[in-house]
Amino acid sequence: MSKVIVVIGAQWGDEGKGKIVDLLAERFDLVARYQGGHNAGHSVKVGDRSYALHLIPSGIIHEGKTCVLGNGMVIDPIAFFAEADRLSAQGLQVTPERVKVSSRAHLILPYHRALDHTSEERLGNEKVGTTLRGIGPAYEDKAGRRGIRVADALDADHLRTRIERNIEDANLIIRRYRGTTLDAGQVFNEIAPLVERMSAFVTDTTAFVNRAVREGRSVLVEGAQATLLDVDHGTYPFVTSSSTTAGGVCAGLGLAPKKISGVLGIVRTYSTRVGEGPFPTEMLEGEEEIGQLIRERGHEYGVSTGRPRRCGWFDAFATRYAAEINGFDTVALTKLDILDALDEIKVCTGYRLKGQPCESFPAVSHELRGVEPVYETLPGWNSSTEGVTELESLPARARDYVEFISEQIGVPVGLVSTGPERSQTILVRDSALARWLAD
Ligand code: IMP
Repeated sequence: MSKVIVVIGAQWGDEGKGKIVDLLAERFDLVARYQGGHNAGHSVKVGDRSYALHLIPSGIIHEGKTCVLGNGMVIDPIAFFAEADRLSAQGLQVTPERVKVSSRAHLILPYHRALDHTSEERLGNEKVGTTLRGIGPAYEDKAGRRGIRVADALDADHLRTRIERNIEDANLIIRRYRGTTLDAGQVFNEIAPLVERMSAFVTDTTAFVNRAVREGRSVLVEGAQATLLDVDHGTYPFVTSSSTTAGGVCAGLGLAPKKISGVLGIVRTYSTRVGEGPFPTEMLEGEEEIGQLIRERGHEYGVSTGRPRRCGWFDAFATRYAAEINGFDTVALTKLDILDALDEIKVCTGYRLKGQPCESFPAVSHELRGVEPVYETLPGWNSSTEGVTELESLPARARDYVEFISEQIGVPVGLVSTGPERSQTILVRDSALARWLAD
């Protein structure tokens, strides 16, 4: 039986997926992404080397692994080759044998980036706070049936015509709000050689992944962004434009639901968010200092954009919601060591709206802004957990915190991360995760 394990962030992103996917990748044959684009940012530290990954799955760091960029992704050819060339210069093999780009994935082109900027400028105070990478406009074109798929772009005439048509439309908006318009000929001349260079990587990844599964090879599916940024289930409209949750895997890779063997949630021991949008447990009045402490200790600055991340307490109510949507079999708890310096730690166990407890996660952003988190306060452990590799070696209060989170979200913990290095990890014996790794 082939093993297909999906890894998904349970909060608003940046939960530390990079390290966990990298740890797991060693045990899998394929590492695949199914949604998003270079809005993602994973940083992986291996020894004294550090790799920043945006578009290419983390499997690239491991020799002999095949990386798949699935049909549900949006791919900027400029960003793809910038990343491929950077990783190649760091000594990694970014070759067509190892990297498969779906023929059905959609391209992000320069006008998508311009439209992303325009859209954010138009929204003013209500802006989403996107990564300005053109992700939303590319998905809009996909749903609007005017997008350019990788396979279609291989036909230069088709590419030129489509670019001309799309830029004509885009310029109507761009001219009005930004002044400087785009030149279709210039965009074509910039993109066509990159698409040609990409042709060696282009694959029918649906057939490729399904064949791999049929032949018993194992697949690690790497989610980008996270559950609360999902276009359906996230804090709409402050979300990304793709299906980031487990359900998106089937659509974004062409893989049937019954082929998925397990889902691992990545849960950070506190919360962060980049960009705008509601964030019930954000450390605001009176707690800014704690937020700042966590930001510095946890290096909470975006890998893609360098933006400082907003910091908050762990939100068990939101994470329970994420566990339900994704069907987490187990979770990896990350960045426990960042909390070492706190005297007390608050955990949000529920929300109240206009005095009434919320039964379920609010659908409407302004309601979510108005909720009052219900907190339980746990004592801090005030000692170092950095680099601890056994649950038994954690201070009792840190262990209690881990157990409390697990009880609150109703999912067993399979791994606890106690530092950025691969070795700074507790793998929980007899957990689903330990079994997946042993198989
Ligand atoms: P977009 O994906 O660039 O359209 O941005 C939409 C929202 O998702 C913004 O709030 C971004 O900050 C957020 N976002 C996108 N990618 C990531 C990520 O990889 N980590 C965390 N937040 C992200």
